[in-house]
Amino acid sequence: MRELSEIDTVGVVGAGTMGNGIAQVAAMNGYDVVMRDIEGQYVENGLESIEHSLDRLVSSEKLSQADADAARDRITGTTALADLADADLVVEAVIEELDSKQDVFEDLDGITDDGVVLATNTSTLSVTSIAKVTDRPEQVVGLHFMNPVPVMEGVEVVVAEKTAQETVEFAHDFAEDLGKTTWESDDKPGFVVNRVLMPWINEGIRSLDEGLATKEDIDRGLKLGTNVPMGPLELADHIGLDIVLDASETLHEELGDRYKPAYLLKRKVEAGDLGKKTGKGFYDYEE
Ligand code: 3HC
Repeated sequence: MRELSEIDTVGVVGAGTMGNGIAQVAAMNGYDVVMRDIEGQYVENGLESIEHSLDRLVSSEKLSQADADAARDRITGTTALADLADADLVVEAVIEELDSKQDVFEDLDGITDDGVVLATNTSTLSVTSIAKVTDRPEQVVGLHFMNPVPVMEGVEVVVAEKTAQETVEFAHDFAEDLGKTTWESDDKPGFVVNRVLMPWINEGIRSLDEGLATKEDIDRGLKLGTNVPMGPLELADHIGLDIVLDASETLHEELGDRYKPAYLLKRKVEAGDLGKKTGKGFYDYEE
């Protein structure tokens, strides 16, 4: 298996919010990155988000212009998975569907060298089920980043049934090399963060639906009452209501009724109000 010191190129599969954030942070920390998505437009959108985020870091003086330029130059966008053939490590961040992730891992297993660790950014799916389609399940691990990746300090390392201890250690070391702080979770639905966070968000939504308080007061109460940066409704809009519903449904299926998604969450997703990304969720956002 590759040592951390042997990692030059990181492959990232998926150029969406999480994929482009992971690509950006890897590039900012000196890795060459190949970021792949299935359509050219998705790759372009991912590169634009990175550009925008680097600009924010430069304007708030957290990054020099020269370092931002260097990070940008280290990232190559592609639609061909085969372009990840030379990657020394791959992090997958495609849609949260088991079939899609298994397809990607099956392909990556054939394309990449034997010593390459394949990590998944899945938020709730079984890493063991993803790993089982490869011939290297001991080198498959969960690396669950938080949104927005360039800002959030935490990364969850998920240990699947067959993940080798050296892969677990490698995952911690890699995330720490990106300036992150890690913790470990067993491969159980939702891991640590989403298992606790999703019921919290759903209870906030139910409280609104049942008329307990206004949305502003629910968020204010949780923010000022427990010192979190966002209340449950704001945070749901930030994550994306479709993502919250998806994660909640997986937890509900796997862990039972205490994880039942809030009715109002389903209704908002059905209406296409997905939060910040569509300009409307629990709150309205300017374009
Ligand atoms: N790229 C670069 N910089 C960014 C950024 C991005 N994408 N997003 C925010 N920033 C920077 C801003 O430029 C700003 O910098 P400054 O203070 O130096 O000017 C700083 O971060 C704060 O941003 P804002 O002023 O825009 O807004 P806030 O102070 O409200 O911070 C936030 C935004 C960092 C998102 C903060 O509200 C927060 O931490 N919210 C909670 C987010 C959270 O809980 N994320 C995890 C969700 S769970 C998850 O991801 C798991 C998944 O599986 C569902």
